[in-house]
Amino acid sequence: MYYSDEVIEEVRSRNDIVDVISSYVKLQRRGSSYFGLCPFHNEKSPSFSVSPGKQMYYCFGCGAGGNVLTFVMEYENYTFPEALKLLADRAGVTLPEQEYSEEARRQRDLKTAVREVNRMAANYFYYMLRSEQGVRAMQYLKDRGLSDETMKRFGLGYAGQYSDALYRYLKQKGVTDQLLKESGLMQFSEKHGISDKFWNRVMFPIMDVNNKVIGFGGRVMGDGKPKYLNSPETVIFDKGRNLYGLNYARTSKARCMLVCEGYMDVIAMHQAGFTNAVASLGTALTTQHASLLKRYTDEVILTYDSDEAGVRAALRAIPIFREAGISTRVLHMEPHKDPDEFIKALGREAFQERIDQAENSFLFELTVLQKSYDMKDPDGKTRFFQAVAAKIAEFELEIERENYIEAVTGRFQISFEGLRRMVTNVLMQGAPVRKAPVRQQANSQAKEDGILRSQRLILTWLTEYPGLFETIAAYIHPEDFSDELYREAAAMLYDQLRGGAVNPAQITSHFTDPEQQRTIAQLFNAEVKTENPKELEKAVRETVYKVVEHGIAQKSQRHDPTDLQGLQELIDAKRRLQDLKRLHISL
Ligand code: UTP
Ligand code: MN
Repeated sequence: MYYSDEVIEEVRSRNDIVDVISSYVKLQRRGSSYFGLCPFHNEKSPSFSVSPGKQMYYCFGCGAGGNVLTFVMEYENYTFPEALKLLADRAGVTLPEQEYSEEARRQRDLKTAVREVNRMAANYFYYMLRSEQGVRAMQYLKDRGLSDETMKRFGLGYAGQYSDALYRYLKQKGVTDQLLKESGLMQFSEKHGISDKFWNRVMFPIMDVNNKVIGFGGRVMGDGKPKYLNSPETVIFDKGRNLYGLNYARTSKARCMLVCEGYMDVIAMHQAGFTNAVASLGTALTTQHASLLKRYTDEVILTYDSDEAGVRAALRAIPIFREAGISTRVLHMEPHKDPDEFIKALGREAFQERIDQAENSFLFELTVLQKSYDMKDPDGKTRFFQAVAAKIAEFELEIERENYIEAVTGRFQISFEGLRRMVTNVLMQGAPVRKAPVRQQANSQAKEDGILRSQRLILTWLTEYPGLFETIAAYIHPEDFSDELYREAAAMLYDQLRGGAVNPAQITSHFTDPEQQRTIAQLFNAEVKTENPKELEKAVRETVYKVVEHGIAQKSQRHDPTDLQGLQELIDAKRRLQDLKRLHISL
């Protein structure tokens, strides 16, 4: 749904953020801000801050942040229009009926309609499971150890015995064939016409993070094939970007996420109290899945099946998570096949123990590697440890190498000194030190993070000390910021500063995606470690210098050597950079 910036700003400005958040979180005044325990992660001392001046919140612990609209979206699991509606009602603002472009309206209406059909289908399956026809399905789920409460929480259902039951139900509700096609719930064939995709199966509705049903998995009761059928991708269902169980796992207070393979595994873990479990939906893990999880956690424990396919899936997933900045450990399920069976056999305490003992992913990789060597044969053993030494030599830092050598000697039969010598040999063999590609990225990533942090500091200071604007604007322009979102936010902030009224919360609600709002909140809440005015002035000067210097470096990298005027500009810019060292800053 689209609302104009004016309407959004009207609603936002009529809902004081301290008032609104106080009704959810106990806040205490400290200086110019309020602090409380963050509702978005588990903590004992308050790092969740609400600024009445900026009308924004930000958690220094987990990075959650935004304006009052973001807060309602995140806390209530609402979409942007839903949050807007709640706050409009709260402040007595009437939202206008919206006008849409033809195409935007079509897409929006289609998505809404497909969502509605999925919701109706979920209701229908839910009802069928509890009906006469669903007795066997109900028994099946009970035999698998699911409580009524769990079935309710996950909205489990049954698709009915007949292959046209859902079709007739939805037709009778007035759903068109065209829409049925879009919903992914029907099969179309020349010979048989339209029929239900799912029948005589227990049904697992798949929900997005806002608890909206976007598709289904259906399991045969028994040994039939295929075991599971899944909804195809539709306008609302993108398998690579959704994780089963994430709607609940995202609000779990656990530090890590448990990633598994199946519907039943997620449900069994949640039922046993591990509400931080998610699964990719009958597809291999994607980089989008990893970055989706990165919003909520830095650590994943893989709880894949203990069979060969599970091990392969884990070996594939580990680097994907590593690249997303998530560290991985691997849970050992033996002698059981998957989390569902494990918990049923050994119970939750035993599972918790396995979580605590989950293995570092590097050691897991080595354990798997070992299987391809004959460890009884002296040569096989040597070759294995040479391979291990080569892998350890890939770590750039000596301390990392030492730590891994120590970990390896604790697990495999080799002495610390012996392995260290082998690693040293690898490093000395003249062969250029292979740096792990991911680690190289991590380095340039760190540099990039550094400059982004400086840019965030600039924007934060501009909101806190608008008096700095003239000075800073003479050197840094909105287009100098590295990130698209930063540039947009900076352009808006500069406009506000020129007009004399700083309003970061308004800039935040210009973006309707909570992920973007979080980034904006981060932009305007960069931490400054000093309160001392002299030190602060020095920090401002140095930060301005850093940002400008980075901008020049970027420009000269892109510089076309035949462009003489550009060259002159670069030379000028570099000369002006020297002046910056003496820039007078006064807060
Ligand atoms: P598994 O075969 O490991 O099944 O598939 P499971 O999760 O243990 O299921 P139960 O315990 O036998 O009921 C793992 C996941 O792979 C997808 C499903 O998402 C399943 O949960 N899958 C599996 C399919 O999509 N189709 C299939 O035919 C089988
Ligand atoms: Mn299973």
